[in-house]
Amino acid sequence: MASLTLRLAVLACVFICRTDVALTAQNVIQLQNNEYTDVLIAINRNIPEDQQIVDRLKEIFTEASEALYIATRSRAYIKQVKILIPNTWTRQPQYLPPGTATFDRANVRVDVQNPLYGDGPYVQQTGGCGVGGEYLHLTPRYVVDRPYGESNWGPYGKLVTHEWGHLRWGLFDEYGFDDPLGGSYPHFYVSTSMGIQPVRCSAYTAGSYQNPVTQSRCQVDPATGLPEADCRFIPNPNGNRATGSYMFMQFLPQVEEFCHGGQHLFSQGGQPNPLSSHNREAPNKQNALCNGQSAWDVMNKHQDFANGANPPREVVSTVPDFVLLQEKEPMMVLVLDTSGSMRVLEAQGDPSGGILFLMSDGQENELPDIATVTPQVLAKGIIIDTLAYKRSADPQIESLALLTGGKSYFYSGEQGDSTALNDAFTASVLSRDDRTGGEATIQLVSETKTLNTGENYYNELYIEKSEGRNAIFTFMWNGGVPPLIEIIAPNGTVIGQGDPSYHVMSDTIQVNVPGVAQPGKWSYNITIVDYYYQQVDILASCKGATPDSQPIKVTAQVSTISLNGSSLSESPALSIRASVTKGYLPVTGATVTAFIEKPPSEDVDELLLLDNGAGADVTKNDGVYSRHFLNFTAGGRYSVSVKVNNEQGEAASIVVTGTARRGHSAALSKDAEAFALDKNAVHSEPLDQFQRMAPGGVFELTDVPIGGLSRLDLGPPSRVNDLKVIRVSHDNLTVALSWTAVGDDLDQGGPAALTDLRFGRNFTELADDFEASSVVDDSQVLLGDLTSPSPPGTLETVVIRVPERGENVTFVFALRVCDTVGNCGQPSNIAAANLEYIPEPTTPPPTTPLSQPNKPNSNTLIIAVSVSCGVVAAVVAILAVLSVKHCCCKRKKRVSVTPVPDGIALESGQPPNQPLPKA
Ligand SMILES: *[C@@H]1O[C@H](CO)[C@@H](O)[C@H](O)[C@H]1NC(C)=O
Ligand SMILES: *[C@@H]1O[C@H](CO)[C@@H](O)[C@H](O)[C@H]1NC(C)=O
Ligand SMILES: *[C@@H]1O[C@H](CO)[C@@H](O)[C@H](O)[C@H]1NC(C)=O
Ligand SMILES: *[C@@H]1O[C@H](CO)[C@@H](O)[C@H](O)[C@H]1NC(C)=O
Ligand SMILES: *[C@@H]1O[C@H](CO)[C@@H](O)[C@H](O)[C@H]1NC(C)=O
Ligand SMILES: *[C@@H]1O[C@H](CO)[C@@H](O)[C@H](O)[C@H]1NC(C)=O
Ligand SMILES: *[C@@H]1O[C@H](CO)[C@@H](O)[C@H](O)[C@H]1NC(C)=O
Repeated sequence: MASLTLRLAVLACVFICRTDVALTAQNVIQLQNNEYTDVLIAINRNIPEDQQIVDRLKEIFTEASEALYIATRSRAYIKQVKILIPNTWTRQPQYLPPGTATFDRANVRVDVQNPLYGDGPYVQQTGGCGVGGEYLHLTPRYVVDRPYGESNWGPYGKLVTHEWGHLRWGLFDEYGFDDPLGGSYPHFYVSTSMGIQPVRCSAYTAGSYQNPVTQSRCQVDPATGLPEADCRFIPNPNGNRATGSYMFMQFLPQVEEFCHGGQHLFSQGGQPNPLSSHNREAPNKQNALCNGQSAWDVMNKHQDFANGANPPREVVSTVPDFVLLQEKEPMMVLVLDTSGSMRVLEAQGDPSGGILFLMSDGQENELPDIATVTPQVLAKGIIIDTLAYKRSADPQIESLALLTGGKSYFYSGEQGDSTALNDAFTASVLSRDDRTGGEATIQLVSETKTLNTGENYYNELYIEKSEGRNAIFTFMWNGGVPPLIEIIAPNGTVIGQGDPSYHVMSDTIQVNVPGVAQPGKWSYNITIVDYYYQQVDILASCKGATPDSQPIKVTAQVSTISLNGSSLSESPALSIRASVTKGYLPVTGATVTAFIEKPPSEDVDELLLLDNGAGADVTKNDGVYSRHFLNFTAGGRYSVSVKVNNEQGEAASIVVTGTARRGHSAALSKDAEAFALDKNAVHSEPLDQFQRMAPGGVFELTDVPIGGLSRLDLGPPSRVNDLKVIRVSHDNLTVALSWTAVGDDLDQGGPAALTDLRFGRNFTELADDFEASSVVDDSQVLLGDLTSPSPPGTLETVVIRVPERGENVTFVFALRVCDTVGNCGQPSNIAAANLEYIPEPTTPPPTTPLSQPNKPNSNTLIIAVSVSCGVVAAVVAILAVLSVKHCCCKRKKRVSVTPVPDGIALESGQPPNQPLPKA
């Protein structure tokens, strides 16, 4: 214990104010008695002070509350909103202390543009259907400039209600969109009963088709049987009868409901309105990921409304209360047990917003225990990061971290070369800049090596060109003669003993690279000269190359903190996700590996995380890499860390030049011009070698059945949600289909055993009874193989022959994948193919593009204001039994298709096919 304390003290002193991010527990919005409370909005500290932002946020959320109350049929409205003002803004007496509110935990962020979306509001959504998003991103211009916001996205209250669907209930968009990064959903489809249709919800939404690029009528492409890629559905702005849906075109005047699936859902909410009926045939993201369920189907399963929770209630007013909070520099307190820990914090002034790093080995007998202090801690607004350093530690400590918005770590102390302790501590102490949205320190390396006398240890690391300021290499050992260290720069220069940047302290050697470290390969060479073996901790960190450069940022998290071992095979619902970004833009093609340290013997599993939009991964190429974890061994704590590098040399950052008008989850804009995405604005730029380490959190496996876990088969293959018709040929009677292969067990393991592909001519029949539908047999397969699926993550393509073609001939397809023991996954999304005759164009379509007004360059970011925090001493109190030891460190400065023959061409201005008839 003593040496542990000492080591932490050393770490604290050496690393204060430096590190990369750990997982974030998002602020939890409460819903009770129809009232949402604790909605947290935070303004980034890089946003120049502007009182209008605060005033407008109040107006926007007042309008949102009213719209939400109507949309939920009197079942929910916003009662209380907290607005967190950055500490770069003028202090005002009415501002309250922040409590556990931090920028990175906020449900709504006001921050500079994400270049992919410009001022388009969007929700960062990384979970599957029904899993709420991380945050809603609004730009200062969107917030403040009402005429601009309304002319583009419609009334603010309605826009926020659309986004609330993503953020709170895990709904997806019901419109088609082009994603330059690969996650596109089509704008049109062919219905088995209605022919070519625009993707829309409800199907009563009236409008016309137009190609805004050529400004002429839409033509049908014989290769797909659908309107050409640039063709768009333009809603009738007035006189549109459809009342749904919020997840489609929230800006239409009559839209004030979410689409619903039927009468039974409204046992408490009055009669269902047929004008908001769900269109489950439209191949949008909502249908693909939610298995054809309507928005209300999903909402009714959410805890907000499940089992009749929050039945409709008349309220006098839906106006929320607003509480203004202001950030402050958090204090850090390290405690080794819970007793007396609050008093520590209070000794330093108002404890609100303080961070307490709580370590527990489960050995404490002293009162008060965790259950006793929890309400007190919550009331005081203290964030608690926890470190369990023995298996026996009280499982409640992770819940305590979750409740207060803290992070949890686990260190078994049983494995010699584990870096868990260092990682936990550096991440906790040093992530304060991230929590407040400031300039982060990048953790490049964290490793621990046990080396014998005379032994050498040599390793390499890469510094990428957007990083390298304040590069520091730190080596720590437990006593004895200092090891000899050599740091070799990319140009061959060796920094060793005697160099002015080589500092030897007690048990620590630190090399501070002057200026900005050269990009490229750096290496370190350690030689042990002591007569005994030594355990050496190696840490390397740096900042961005300039205060405004956007270095690669990695955050990782597990989807849950506790899992029930007795129901694993029914819901092996644990996924690990890592987000790899530069600013708000994704880094694609990186090698992302999760390391899972498992009980009972601290085996470490390696799991490659993927960003392919399949299995656990929701959106392709969004910089979020995900995978299910299934290889459970025993009950107890599992600890996750993530390593990211460019081992395959395929990593690229997404760069946006000019304005990409909208991308995936950004809200649909009213502006027809905005429907045409400027594809040329989005580029991918190869990245040099780099690396990152990030802790991924801790989860606990409980209720392991007597006799242990059955390790035979942990689940059927995942559901395929990206089945697409990529080509049709009327002449050859063929359809080409593609999808991403899943694994034998969910999204992993070896390739699955069989692809069960079905087809039909009636959407309803295939959707309602997959097993009764016709099987595509091997004689129909012209290319590809249904009997030997590809390895998980790879793109599968088959070409099959269909039995018919001609006018009104539409085939629908769905598949499920089965494993070696005969377990089959859920049927996939449904893809349709139009087998009617479409003549080839005889002349190329007109190419006059729409004139594009000059827009401000959305790449221009507001540069961080330099903030000196030297005066704010981070107080690290080490409380061991009764002795209190202070270790104060100064903070460093932070800156922070010829027209086609009649009957096929879709004329500009011509109304689309009639809405679906009333049921
Ligand atoms: C599709 O099948 C359903 C259920 O069997 C039936 O009610 C419907 O009329 C069929 N639709 C068409 C267009 O044949
Ligand atoms: C080589 O790199 C070191 C460390 O970055 C730097 O101090 C030195 O000036 C460089 N030498 C040359 C010749 O470029
Ligand atoms: C590391 O340092 C030792 C001792 O100076 C030396 O013998 C060895 O060659 C060095 N290794 C590398 C790869 O530079
Ligand atoms: C785990 O699941 C079993 C059976 O489904 C149930 O009896 C038990 O209470 C669950 N444990 C927890 C902690 O929820
Ligand atoms: C699963 O866990 C076992 C036991 O720890 C280990 O031997 C095996 O390598 C793991 N499998 C994978 C694919 O990681
Ligand atoms: C039809 O089949 C022929 C012969 O296999 C092939 O050359 C042609 O590309 C196919 N057409 C389409 C549209 O697939
Ligand atoms: C195709 O459908 C249209 C509209 O439902 C109908 O008028 C036409 O007769 C159908 N053609 C064939 C060959 O069934």
